[in-house]
Formats: sequence, structure tokens, C-alpha cells
Amino acid sequence: MQQFSDPDHLRTAARGWRREGRRIGFVPTMGNLHEGHLSLLRRAAAECDVALLSVYVNPKQFGPQEDFANYPRTLAEDLALAASAGCSDVFVPTDATIYPPGFATSVTVAGLTEPLCGRSRPGHFAGVTTVVAKLFCLVVPDRAYFGEKDYQQLQVIRRLTADLGLGTEVVGCPIVREADGLAMSSRNRYLNPAERAAAVCLSRAIAAAQRVAADGADAAETILAAAQIVLARQPLARIDYLELVNPETLQPLARLDRPARLILAVQVGPARLLDNGPIEPAESKPGPLLSLS
Ligand code: PAF
Repeated sequence: MQQFSDPDHLRTAARGWRREGRRIGFVPTMGNLHEGHLSLLRRAAAECDVALLSVYVNPKQFGPQEDFANYPRTLAEDLALAASAGCSDVFVPTDATIYPPGFATSVTVAGLTEPLCGRSRPGHFAGVTTVVAKLFCLVVPDRAYFGEKDYQQLQVIRRLTADLGLGTEVVGCPIVREADGLAMSSRNRYLNPAERAAAVCLSRAIAAAQRVAADGADAAETILAAAQIVLARQPLARIDYLELVNPETLQPLARLDRPARLILAVQVGPARLLDNGPIEPAESKPGPLLSLS
């Protein structure tokens, strides 16, 4: 596996790959890789000639009271895992090379960044889109792979890429879950055993909402109530948001008259956990329900 830290060296290598007609698959991450990230890397390696991983804990996407300082940094383990998943190249930049002195540019996407996490984490998405735009300009990937666990981020990056005509195909990949249904996330490691057991309430809430929709409920209020009941039973969980939204615009829906997305953020102990799942109207062909043990 070839490792780059200097953006200029990466840009030169990427130009060479393109000249040779090699397709570049890119997986941007903040490291602390888990099975979710590895599924993206495996897909990049299967579909492209170059499977490039970036590992960079981006300070601009953390608020002042958030977990930037404590965010898990596990580069040695990450490199070993990435190699095992077929990664060919890794970019590990420093703050000084991503945001050199005088850096004054911010890339923002309007609309999609305003609801949900945008309300709870002001400035977060501007940090994400600024760094992703910078990485995409450097690498010019053919395909970039993002997990659906960060569903709003995925939609925002699709918008960014389309609006700026970056020419990269943004590939959304399914959420990878633990055996009990908890969506894999680097922040799961903040949970103590009691909180880890409680955290399963997010996927159970989605499953409950999917069940009432499959049984014919079409009022958002009813579908959300089914999820709320599950979350309310868990004393360690505090809902940040729980919404039934249009999967593309992320605007709240009052009725389930088309396929929708249930999307939620829940604080469990020190970790703010995200999850989401499809909610289908009863009369349309149902997608796979979340299978829980
Ligand atoms: O999803 C993440 O890990 C980050 O938000 C990303 C896309 C790598 C940007 O820092």
C-alpha cells in the first residue's frame, strides 16, 4: 500500500493514474476504521483500479463543545485493516497541508444542510463540504464511496458534486450493523456496556416504524409514534431528532404517500448516535425490513 501525506505528491500520483486510464475509487474517512468503512473500501477495490483511502480528522466539522480532541485516532490499526480490505493507496494529510496559513475558503450547500443534523450542529456541514471539495479537487476520483449511516451527509455530498460539476460518481453504500442491529460507528466506542446495550433502541425504533407502515399506517404522526414508544422505554436515550422525510429533499412528510426515510439522532451517554431506514407505503412493494435478532 502506497502512503501519501503531501497533497502535491498525491495530486501527481492521481494525474498519473488517470493518464494510464486507471479508474480511481475514493473512500474519505476520519479513520478509526470499522466494518462499515471496510465495506466501502472493498467495493472501491472491486469496482476501480485504484482504491484510495483518506484518513483525516477534519477540525472544521466539529463544534467547539464536540469531541474533536477525543475522536479516536488509530492510524496503525487503520492501515492494517485497509490493506486487508484491498486498499491500494492511503492519504494521511496534516492540518497544515489541508488548511495552510491564510486558508479562507468555505464551501457550503444550502437547503439540505439546514434540517436534522444541520440544526443540532451549526457549521458541521460547511466543514464537511469544504474538506470533501478540497479532497475531490486533489484526487478527481471517478467514484467516491460514502455510507448511508450518515444519510444527510450523503445527500449533501451528492448535491455538492452535482452543483460544482465535479464529475465524480457518489456511491451510497448500505449501513453495516452489529448482530443486534446497532449501526456501526466510530462513536460506538464511547459507550460503556450499559449504554452499548441501550443503543440498540435506534434500530429497534426504525423496525417498529417499518412494521406499522407495513401494516397500513400512513400518517407520519402514527409512524413516528411507533418509533418514539421504543425510544421512550430506554432511560439512557435522549432523542435529538426523529423525523420522517422525503429521501431526496430531506423535508418532513406528513403522509407516507411515497417511499420515505425515517432518520434519527439520539444521545446515548456520551455518544450522539445516528441511524435511518427506508419506510415504504403499504401498497408499494416493500423493501427489506431491518432484520433484528
Ligand atoms: O464521514 C466522515 O467520516 C467525514 O464526515 C468525511 C466525509 C470523511 C469528511 O471529513
